[in-house]
Amino acid sequence: MAIDFTLSEEQKQLQALARRFAKEQIAPVAALYDAKEEMPWPVIEKLHGVGLLNAVIPEEYGGLGLSMVDEVILGEELAWGCMGIYTIAMASDLGITPVLLAGSSEQKERFLRKLTQKPSLAAFGLSEPGNGSDAAALRTRAVKSGDGYILNGSKTWITNGGDAEFVVVFATVNPEARHKGVVALVVDKGTPGFRAHKLHGKMGQRASATYELVFEECWVPAENLLGQEGDGFKLAMNTLDKTRIPVAAGSVGVARRALEESTKYAKEREAFGQPIAQFQAVQFKLAEMLMGLETARAYTYYAAWLTDQKLPQAHAAAIAKAYASEIAFDAANQAIQIHGGFGYMQEYPVEKLLRDVKLNQIYEGTNEIQRLIIARHILNS
Ligand code: CAA
Ligand code: FAD
Repeated sequence: MAIDFTLSEEQKQLQALARRFAKEQIAPVAALYDAKEEMPWPVIEKLHGVGLLNAVIPEEYGGLGLSMVDEVILGEELAWGCMGIYTIAMASDLGITPVLLAGSSEQKERFLRKLTQKPSLAAFGLSEPGNGSDAAALRTRAVKSGDGYILNGSKTWITNGGDAEFVVVFATVNPEARHKGVVALVVDKGTPGFRAHKLHGKMGQRASATYELVFEECWVPAENLLGQEGDGFKLAMNTLDKTRIPVAAGSVGVARRALEESTKYAKEREAFGQPIAQFQAVQFKLAEMLMGLETARAYTYYAAWLTDQKLPQAHAAAIAKAYASEIAFDAANQAIQIHGGFGYMQEYPVEKLLRDVKLNQIYEGTNEIQRLIIARHILNS
């Protein structure tokens, strides 16, 4: 059999566990944490309790060693409950991935073990106030000093940055060298000279905490360097090539939620003496939502499968991330339309879907940057 879309028994169990968790533990509190703009620590603790936090960490360090297809299964379910709460877990996996890709066994043991022993998070620090899309233009400076590096500079928009056990910080030993001067350093929580300020006023995904990080004469031991000096940019790129797929999975979860809420409402709400679901204009919206959802899910699984097969997949991750986040945005938008005036109010969950999923078109590389990656793939292959 050349193509098999069947989930294994373990994957079905993972899906069922995550679905139940999202329904019982995430969805009921999603609006509350969104309104309060507060980290949902009780939810994070419970996610750790069922083994689904930082589950990409291999079993030898206490995790589940999830494959990318497993991650996609998990991501769709958790994001169905709340995209913002899922982003907390997703960004932790993003911080873990460079350690998995470039860390020595000793570094993996030192950094990853603590993330499986208690409910705790990792973070990934690439973006800066002066540059986001142009990642190679980063300015945070790393200067060799004794058996380590002194960091000076700042990062911004860093998800989990002030809560994480460690942040993988990308800095430059030589700004003139652009990407060739980048180092990836693991900065532990509480390192002297490292401060984090929580950013307030996000449009959506407000349960997830976003930070500005400041480094002032912050000394980091050389034993925290991932890979070699100058490898940092490619490590960031290799990481994002993987982690854009869970963003796609989260988008699929939001799109599914939008369709489910809309279907329920359309069957209940009456206008002109009949449920609005009887109007073809509403039916077509539902049909469009399912078309987007199914195609995005299928392609996201394909991108995940390529990753697990260790086949070239950077373009596929970019397609999945851009496409899924766009159909999810459209689905959330149409869900509001189907709900009419009620859709515009916080009493119903659909306005939050739209606010949350807008971010999926921006973070982990904007959808314009995904198109740039896809276009380069076309022109260079
Ligand atoms: N894998 C491996 N190597 C790669 C690569 C990849 N995917 N992409 C580029 N490279 C290599 C190139 O081969 C080149 O190496 P050589 O000099 O040895 O040939 C080097 O990197 C530089 O490549 P480019 O000249 O192509 O790089 P560029 O400056 O044009 O940038 C880019 C490419 C794709 C635009 C990149 O800057 C990018 O991805 N930008 C977006 C940044 C981003 O996604 N940020 C996300 C932050 S995390 C986040 O947002 C998380 C969250 O919200 C939770
Ligand atoms: P800019 O790069 O200034 O882009 C502005 C506009 O110009 C965009 O529309 C962009 O697409 C367009 N543009 C730029 N260059 C091109 C081009 N070459 N071709 C076409 N269009 C272009 N970063 C992290 O490192 N870690 C995190 O954990 C993290 N979490 C985040 C959480 C939140 C809530 C947010 C908002 C951001 C987060 N980010 C994180 C940062 C995120 O990755 C960046 O915001 C994103 O990469 C865009 O960078 P920018 O905001 O500097 O926009």
